[in-house]
Amino acid sequence: MKKIIYPLQKDTIAKEDHRALAQWIDSDPLPRLTMGSLVKKFEDKWSDWLGVKYSIACNSGSSANLLMYYTLLRSGRLKNKKIIVPSAAWVTTVAPAIQLGFEPIMCEADTKTFGLDHNHLEQLLKKHRPSTVIMVQVLGVPNDMDKIMKLKKKYKFFLLEDVCAAMGSKYKERKLGTYGDMASISTYFGHQFSTIEGGLVSTNDRGFYELLIMLRSHGWISGLSSKTRTNLLKKYKIADTGTHFIFCEPGFNFRLTDLQAFIGIRQLEKMDWLVENRSRNHNLYKDFLSSNFDIQEYDRSSRVCSIHFCVLADNKEERIKIIKALEDSGIETRPFTSGNQGLHPYWFREYGKFNAPVADRLYYCGFFLPNYPTLTTKDIKYICSVVTKAALKNRHEA
Ligand SMILES: Cc1ncc(COP(=O)(O)O)c(C=O)c1O
Repeated sequence: MKKIIYPLQKDTIAKEDHRALAQWIDSDPLPRLTMGSLVKKFEDKWSDWLGVKYSIACNSGSSANLLMYYTLLRSGRLKNKKIIVPSAAWVTTVAPAIQLGFEPIMCEADTKTFGLDHNHLEQLLKKHRPSTVIMVQVLGVPNDMDKIMKLKKKYKFFLLEDVCAAMGSKYKERKLGTYGDMASISTYFGHQFSTIEGGLVSTNDRGFYELLIMLRSHGWISGLSSKTRTNLLKKYKIADTGTHFIFCEPGFNFRLTDLQAFIGIRQLEKMDWLVENRSRNHNLYKDFLSSNFDIQEYDRSSRVCSIHFCVLADNKEERIKIIKALEDSGIETRPFTSGNQGLHPYWFREYGKFNAPVADRLYYCGFFLPNYPTLTTKDIKYICSVVTKAALKNRHEA
């Protein structure tokens, strides 16, 4: 491959953030850096921005997903362990179901949004009556949330919303991450904003929040409000000696550090700029490519804040040719194999291959184009011209 001119993603942590971090690390007295007051401040700022009551920060989006599943399990509120999982997802959207002994049932992807296909979803809901559905807001493009929320009401399931690559997007006027009973985000490199590695779970449910606090950090009572702490000690008939070393849950250690929270707080200050530029770029890609390619569709009143733009080639051969043309032009890309989790060995070893027309098309024909806030209209025009030229040449020769 030629030297990369346009990487697929770029860090949103800038030079001035490095300098501010270095200054803070060197301050007097030296900051402790492990999880402390800055993590709490970061969580509160994220909750305010999103418009939810509670958020807990953790060390990755994958940990956030695992915490959501485990919180549901420990809540005692599940009527069964059946969960519908999307085919277009990241591996760690689905993996916790296997790790924690749920019964996952895979759902076809929607032709327009690449999220859950609501017809297939309803068939599965009718047949299996699962306690839970986990969905992904795929690459920042919102699912048809009116339809999904209608099904939620009708079939009464818990909704987990994986917003790991969709922070800043809206369905109509409402922000993604506010639909699920719990929602996860990822702040890994190149995502809408970054804390190096990191994640958050947001919820409006006080009970889930208290479990999340314990499960993130060893299962101990440290971090709970004094009222909750007193109630728990009363419930288990333990005398309150002031110690935090009482373990009420079999927890993990998924904590974020104050060092990362310091970066995260600065990132949230740039949120308007990040969202505006990522959305503008996404719309430009859509305008330049929609006449020649199948791409994700969404209501114009929604807002898409993406980290990549996904394009579908007409067939596998065309994708190979487009990817070669992109690489020869220094444009980084990657195939959308996550478009069908059911074709990956971790899934088919346990449950057999999941084949469905849309998910298969995403797996075999999908590829990503770069999106980051500093990409310009000229850059996007050029990237689109490389893609279109390669595809049209292939179609002409076929
Ligand atoms: C939809 C989705 N869920 C979960 C994750 C996992 O996030 P992390 O890389 O922070 O573990 C990703 C990562 O890109 C993702 O795209």
